[in-house]
Amino acid sequence: MKTCVVPGSFDPFTIGHLDMVERAAKMFDKVYVAIMANSEKKGTFDLATRKKIAEVSCGDLKNVTVITAEGLLAELCVALGAVAIVKGVRNVADYSYEADMADINRHLAPIDTVWLPARPSLAFISSTFVRELIKYERPLDGAMHPDALHIIEAEMIKK
Ligand code: PNS
Repeated sequence: MKTCVVPGSFDPFTIGHLDMVERAAKMFDKVYVAIMANSEKKGTFDLATRKKIAEVSCGDLKNVTVITAEGLLAELCVALGAVAIVKGVRNVADYSYEADMADINRHLAPIDTVWLPARPSLAFISSTFVRELIKYERPLDGAMHPDALHIIEAEMIKK
C-alpha cells in the first residue's frame, strides 16, 4: 500500500488544495492531509478550525484522512509509513521554495517530494487570497468548498 502526506498550513484549505488532494488520492492508496505549523507564518484560523474545514472539503474522498501534527514533516512521514510528500506548485516562486523544502526533508529522512502543477484555472487561488476575501467580506464561492463556508461564517461571528 502506497501512502503519501500532503502537508501544509491550510489556513484555510482552498479549492486549489482540494484539487491537489483529489489528484493525490488517485495516485496513492492512502493520503494524509497534515495540517502543520509554518514557523514563518502567523496563523489566522486555529488548528482545530483548519482541520474541520479540510475535513468537510475532503469528505467525499474515502482514502483521505486529515490530521494535525507538530514537529518535523520528514519524521511524520516516517511514522506514517509514507513513501512521498505531495505538494502543489503554482508558479516559479512556489517552485523555488518547494525545491528547498524537498531538499531539507530528503536530508532529514529518506522521503521524496512529488510536485503537482496547479490546474491553471485554480493557480491564482491561495489561502492568502481567501483570507483577503474574508477580511473584505466578499463571497468565497469558487475559492472554498461550499460545505466549508458555514464554518468560516461561524468563525467570523465569534470574532
Ligand atoms: O502551506 P505551507 O505554509 O507552505 O506549508 C509549510 C509546511 C507546514 C509544510 C512546512 O512549514 C513544514 O513542513 N512544517 C513542519 C516543520 C518542518 O518539517 N520543518 C522543516 C522544513 S523547514
